[in-house]
Amino acid sequence: MDKYIIRGNNKLYGDVVVSGAKNSAVAIIPAALLVEGKCVIENVPDINDTKLLLGILKNLGAEILFLDTTTVSVDCTHVNVFCVSDYESVRKMRASYYLVGALLGRFGKAKVGMPGGCDFGVRPIDQHIKGFERLGAKVDIEHGIINAAAEDHLVGSNVYFDGISVGATINVMLAAVRAEGQTIIENPAKEPHVVDVANFLNAMGADIRGAGTDIIKIRGVKTLYGGNYAIIPDQIEAGTYMVAAAATGGKVTVKNVIPKHMDCISVKLREAGITVDEHDDCLTVYRDCCISRLNLKTLPYPGFPTDMQPQFTTMLCLAQGTSVVTEGVFDHRFKYVDELRRMGALADVDGRICVVNGIKKFTGAAVKACDLRAGVALMIAGLCADGVTEITDVEFIERGYENIVYKFKGLGANITKISEEPDKQISEIKAV
Ligand code: EPU
Repeated sequence: MDKYIIRGNNKLYGDVVVSGAKNSAVAIIPAALLVEGKCVIENVPDINDTKLLLGILKNLGAEILFLDTTTVSVDCTHVNVFCVSDYESVRKMRASYYLVGALLGRFGKAKVGMPGGCDFGVRPIDQHIKGFERLGAKVDIEHGIINAAAEDHLVGSNVYFDGISVGATINVMLAAVRAEGQTIIENPAKEPHVVDVANFLNAMGADIRGAGTDIIKIRGVKTLYGGNYAIIPDQIEAGTYMVAAAATGGKVTVKNVIPKHMDCISVKLREAGITVDEHDDCLTVYRDCCISRLNLKTLPYPGFPTDMQPQFTTMLCLAQGTSVVTEGVFDHRFKYVDELRRMGALADVDGRICVVNGIKKFTGAAVKACDLRAGVALMIAGLCADGVTEITDVEFIERGYENIVYKFKGLGANITKISEEPDKQISEIKAV
């Protein structure tokens, strides 16, 4: 088990370059299964989830070749199995559910273990199943395996989602791109990564219109033939460094961003008294005063993202006054608040609401990352804290943030990664 040791009271200064979007990459890699030809995918973040997915594709018979550290060529022409037997890998992440949509779209059938991923309470997949069924598949879940199959092939249809779901929207797009006829998705998710996946599929020969709006129309095509595609920058990784700059009171330029995607985050930072200067593809974040309290509610895009909630709640622990944070997407996404309390936070959770009373300082403590964004929130708390913070279970963080220790160190953070495996002892990751 690896851990991070953070010596706090450290204002962050400098530039940081954002990697490709995790939640695009984890859908685009499975989407390559739909393509009979070579997909050259650029800006793939080097994180555990993408490695796991590429490993699964390789075991299915895909030819995978890294052209450089973030560009990968994936050729699934010779994949001829619809059954994913890497149960351990599948259970380690949420995004493995995209293998169902992609295999169903390619072969009309799919057999994949139930997904895992961060624990925010019950995470149903009923809307994914409803979508597959609308396209003519029969779906069963038995012994932890999702078994989906069309009698002959999938046929396009109207799919109305009862609630907004990123995963279900992307999964139905994957299943529908090669179905016979037209599929119309109503009430889809509009996140930038949903649009990115649609753009990837279109670049490979699909016919998807309206991604990012209230209705997505997909005309099924016979084949997807391959091509080149660059994944968009990661909105949440960018937001994480913006909040880290604001919370520590330093000044950071976050490079390689699409400022429009950052609006829902920048607007709340400005409300907290933080300056966010926008340039073409970068943002500079700093503050001249204290952090102001505010109220916040997470919502589907273009609302404030749930994946930024732990980082913001952590920053608001250091604001003047009382803030109220409401989680509008998941039932249980405040588990990390117990860990923040160990560092001195004055925050109370009641269901989906967290009331935060500002304190002057966190104090370093031994804490545990309980999921990806919670883990990075504890890193931000540690950077601001008096004394030393020790964060365990950092594997969660490395599932989704590329070179996070290296990037924070490049901004002046004092972080050491320690591996408790004897052969990997202290790995000092060199700063830029
Ligand atoms: N939901 C249902 N039924 C479904 C699907 C979802 O009731 O069939 C509910 C969920 O329980 C939740 C809400 O709908 O209350 C939204 O869930 P959604 O399906 O949008 O989430 P997801 O696809 O499981 C993705 C991201 C998450 C991100 C959410 C919301 C991936 C791999 N995961 O999850 O990312 O929080 O969308 O934007 O794309 C993260 O990156 O840290 C992360 C957790």
